[in-house]
Amino acid sequence: MCYAIPGQVLAIRDDRAVISYFGEERSAMHGGMLLAVGDYVYAQGGFIIERLDREDAQLVLDTWRELFFHLQDVDRRLSSPRVPGSDADKKYLRILDTAMEGRALSRDEYVRLLMSIDERECDLLYRAANFLRQKRQGNSCCVHGIIEYSNYCDELCRYCGISSHNSGLARYRMTENEIVDEAVMMIRCSGFRSLVLQGGEDPAFDTATLCRIVERIRAQANALLIISAGEIGIESLKRLYTSGVRGLLMRFETSIPELYERLHPGSTLNERLLHITAASEMGYLVVTGSLVGLPGQTPENILDDILLAKSLSPEMVSIGPFIPHPRTPLGALPPSSVQEVMNAIAVTRIVDPDNAKILVTTALETLDANIRRCALMAGANSIMLNLTPQGYRERYDIYPSRAHVHDDVKLQIDDAIGLLREIGRSSTDLSMNERTNTVQR
Ligand code: 5AD
Repeated sequence: MCYAIPGQVLAIRDDRAVISYFGEERSAMHGGMLLAVGDYVYAQGGFIIERLDREDAQLVLDTWRELFFHLQDVDRRLSSPRVPGSDADKKYLRILDTAMEGRALSRDEYVRLLMSIDERECDLLYRAANFLRQKRQGNSCCVHGIIEYSNYCDELCRYCGISSHNSGLARYRMTENEIVDEAVMMIRCSGFRSLVLQGGEDPAFDTATLCRIVERIRAQANALLIISAGEIGIESLKRLYTSGVRGLLMRFETSIPELYERLHPGSTLNERLLHITAASEMGYLVVTGSLVGLPGQTPENILDDILLAKSLSPEMVSIGPFIPHPRTPLGALPPSSVQEVMNAIAVTRIVDPDNAKILVTTALETLDANIRRCALMAGANSIMLNLTPQGYRERYDIYPSRAHVHDDVKLQIDDAIGLLREIGRSSTDLSMNERTNTVQR
């Protein structure tokens, strides 16, 4: 994972460059950028996105040198796996020991972990997941921004508050200029190096329009762009990649084909997975995952979701709670519990300690406003800040009372950076340089 600070090019081999962050080496695609050994670059999600002047790079690195190693120390200190003398069930402790040694568990053992309800057991489970995160992935944490550009949606997903079921919702579409200006400002002024552009399946945003928006953003600012516009088709994915999009955010929602079809009339899980795998083959970074707490879902089903996510080799996994929206067919069902999702996050980390970053979803924060810290201490290492302009944000009503809906961008950035510093994490996508982040509209 690349950091949100300049790295120095150590070597160039074929289509990749080896970059050093204070001696830590990472590899990233250079995409044909003219580079020489010794150059300073910003890289994001394995792609070099910008070359910098040596003086500008040194300035940032000088302020960072000490902090970089200090944060690693803090993280190491906070990541010890177990409180000495724990009196939890011996069999349970053995499962966690096996996991922490990096050995695979049996299905029954994973399910046992997913079913943890005892407070001491959960504490140990989350510590084990955090230990693995620290050991295998270090202290980097993704901080992406998301711009929700349209809440029009032609789909009929039975749980989603912006689906066509919700006929009472005031719909909005940001204009092309609004989207481009917002994205460019967030990249240039607020320090984001990675942005998600998300909308419902809105026919007004056809492929040509999306490509134009992406090209206009890229002409003015450098960032890793991730698209989340539903099932736009393989051809559209190809065209968007050519325009410069490098990530696809698309959850498969559930790994059970029949449940998928019941929740998404007229669609199939297979079609969804075809989008995800095709994008991956094209070179997209994939962010995918599922919902916890869907009707009839068992711990075995949640394990299958986690295993399916892993099989898709995602850059990031997003597993969040189902929250009923009263104006949808599933409106009367109970929400998922926070613990179920926390357990799923921890088990996802144990299933895939090395690769996937794991997101703390806004939906989880909606169920518990203080959960971000706990989830980051339970295997997660990614957060997403809501950059949708305030006038529209409330209307992106996928579920009720979304967390951060009224928090301006500056507050969200300050909170995120404050928390990351407290728990010893380095941001990979949002510059943690106060000077940059305080420049606001
Ligand atoms: N509760 C939680 N998440 C939801 N999403 C849609 N509706 C809900 C809900 N009621 C999630 C879906 C989708 C993402 C954009 O929002 O998982 O992939």
